[in-house]
Amino acid sequence: MKKLFLIFSSIVVISLSGFISNTPKLSNDEIISAKVDSVLSLMTLDEKIGQLNQLSFGIGWGPTIKVAVPDEYKAQIREGKIGSFLNAIGAEFTYELQKVAVNESRLKIPLIFGLDVIHGFKTTFPVPLGEAATWQPEIVEMSAHYQAIEAASAGIHWTFSPMVDIARDPRWGRIMEGAGEDPYLGSLMAAAHVRGYQGNLSDLNIIACVKHYAGYGGAEGGRDYNTVDFSERTFRDIYLPPYKAGVEAGAHTLMASFNEIGGIPSSGSKYLLNDILREEWNFKGFVVSDWNSIGELILHGFASDLKHAGEISLNAGLDMDMESRSYITHLKELVDEGKVDESTIDESVRRILRIKFMLGLFDDPYAYCDKEREQKNIMTNDIKLASLEVAKRSFVLLKNEKNILPLKKDYKKIAIIGPLANNSVDPIGGWGGLGDSADVTTVLEGFKNYVDGSSQILYSKGCNIDDQDKSGFKDAVTKAKKSDVIILCVGEDRDMSGEACVRSTLDLPGVQEDLAKELLKTGKPIISVLMNGRPLSINWLNENANAILETWFAGTMAGDAIAKVLFGDYNPAGKLPATFPRTVGQVPIYYNHKNTGRPGDLKNHYTSKYLDLPLTPLYPFGYGLSYTTFEYSSLNLSTNKITEDDSIVVSVKVKNSGKYEGEEVVQMYVQDLVGSVTRPVKELKGFKKIMLKRGEEKTVNFTIHEKDLRFTAADMKFKSEPGLFKVFVGTNSVDVNEVQFELID
Ligand code: BGC
Repeated sequence: MKKLFLIFSSIVVISLSGFISNTPKLSNDEIISAKVDSVLSLMTLDEKIGQLNQLSFGIGWGPTIKVAVPDEYKAQIREGKIGSFLNAIGAEFTYELQKVAVNESRLKIPLIFGLDVIHGFKTTFPVPLGEAATWQPEIVEMSAHYQAIEAASAGIHWTFSPMVDIARDPRWGRIMEGAGEDPYLGSLMAAAHVRGYQGNLSDLNIIACVKHYAGYGGAEGGRDYNTVDFSERTFRDIYLPPYKAGVEAGAHTLMASFNEIGGIPSSGSKYLLNDILREEWNFKGFVVSDWNSIGELILHGFASDLKHAGEISLNAGLDMDMESRSYITHLKELVDEGKVDESTIDESVRRILRIKFMLGLFDDPYAYCDKEREQKNIMTNDIKLASLEVAKRSFVLLKNEKNILPLKKDYKKIAIIGPLANNSVDPIGGWGGLGDSADVTTVLEGFKNYVDGSSQILYSKGCNIDDQDKSGFKDAVTKAKKSDVIILCVGEDRDMSGEACVRSTLDLPGVQEDLAKELLKTGKPIISVLMNGRPLSINWLNENANAILETWFAGTMAGDAIAKVLFGDYNPAGKLPATFPRTVGQVPIYYNHKNTGRPGDLKNHYTSKYLDLPLTPLYPFGYGLSYTTFEYSSLNLSTNKITEDDSIVVSVKVKNSGKYEGEEVVQMYVQDLVGSVTRPVKELKGFKKIMLKRGEEKTVNFTIHEKDLRFTAADMKFKSEPGLFKVFVGTNSVDVNEVQFELID
């Protein structure tokens, strides 16, 4: 075996050195392509097919850290039948697996190890919806970078993240994994994640996987995996941009989604996987299926059996098969029958080998399996501080009656109440990686750390998150009565959002609202801390609590972050990345809707509205308060007519008119008044997060170019059209000032 490896290495080296010395100006890409071709030329068809096969280690979903590598796996790796594992983690364990590939397989091609590092490997950061609420791509990039450091130290080369699916329906539990409802914000977050994970790969970062391509968030009824069917225009203008942004940011892989769109399952769609992705966007990386999404073509009614499914997917451009075993079982037969061309397989193998070369795995297959680095890099102080910082920035202040927040430091007794008050499991959120509740600070602990004995803290759980048991109410009310203020921690548990976690109501589960009603009777002020993975309909809290802080699932440092924000060490500045409806009956509800021919008007019966609800959501997209106040004035345009080659500068003055220094996300929206197709009432086109001291005023500028006004027009071309445009600037998508300009021919 060793001999063969030496021969193989020398073939690569000899052929490359010849190649390189003749053409000294080869780019890195060309060098890698030459190396890839050189390896490919040595491979048998079976070995090629093996590279396209990805298996999950162990049984079920969870990551496996250390077990003896079963003989069955060893044999498959040895025979070159596995190109990649998911869910095998840890420096030591991945080393063991890699050793079999590198020492015992004929061509010594290293394995690539993937894992769902969604918002943290061991140190958990806020769930992605919370990260998006920062409206700070640079913070999200930093977060992804730290997550990459931890994962890469534990043998992981590749994360199945970011999820960039636009979600307009909060019943869909996976809204928690993405950046919400808006294509512009979603695109910036997608790109930030990709940059953060991948950085410079030679610094041992991890490669990103933009998922789930495409349109997965459009599931009918919010039911996970369900049918998706929207117009090509909506697909291109609303759903596709974040995937494209991820590709443009350099993502090396994409994941094909489970769903169908308009009758074609994504995992068998040549239109998506080849025409758009490779031809329009020039994507050079590889595409992995979602878990058994190739096999699921059968139940979709798109393939007659697993063999047919493999034929469809490979020919469509899906390179790596996660867990359906269709490729490994049937591709050879399909080649023999002439249904799949070997050159198509070659192309997929090339794409995968290219990434393995880029990761440096052919030079040092064990680079990511260094036990010392693993010990040193995981849960460092720096990473925990980064998690704390992102958490504070992800919180959204939804209500603050009479400026009850920040909390006064002289409260003698504080009641911390609710099923999420001393809960160290749920703040980890769904897809929490190796996040361990033992590392999480609860709200109760956060408060105790913060007040350090200067106030008395009384705790009562009150009730569970999701059952009908009210036996804990009495203790909660007793403690509340003895206190000056109640911190009421309510919301969802971590398993209520994420994959397959769909809810048909958006209300607080169980008897949590009843607990709040009992507490209200004590007359003590209620500060509600929400933990949840989706927008909720919290009308009662909105009317009755004195303050509400949305904290999503904030990760390892949740409790400390919450205490610091409630006491005003950090002035909250997050904004909602998704609309909060009043009731699930309003869903889907999103800010960038169309006007219709009969816009809702409560005084006019024959208009687009509900008989039993106001027109508006509970909290609009972009909404979020601060402990201070901001005044907007002097909204101006540098000109009110532009041609295609000009740009226009929008300026606005923003003043901190309140008592605290604070940050504000200044948001700019545009409306195209008349088009060859109808246009949304508003579309986010820019935002800036600024810091203002007390009394300070700043002028904020945005530049609009013609390219920012493009959309998929009646002729299906992506272009702008001359005419009038409104520009709205303000603190959220509703509270805005407006001006108008014209785009002329
Ligand atoms: C999910 C993906 C995930 C994959 C691997 C699937 O069920 O849809 O998001 O990356 O499993 O864990």
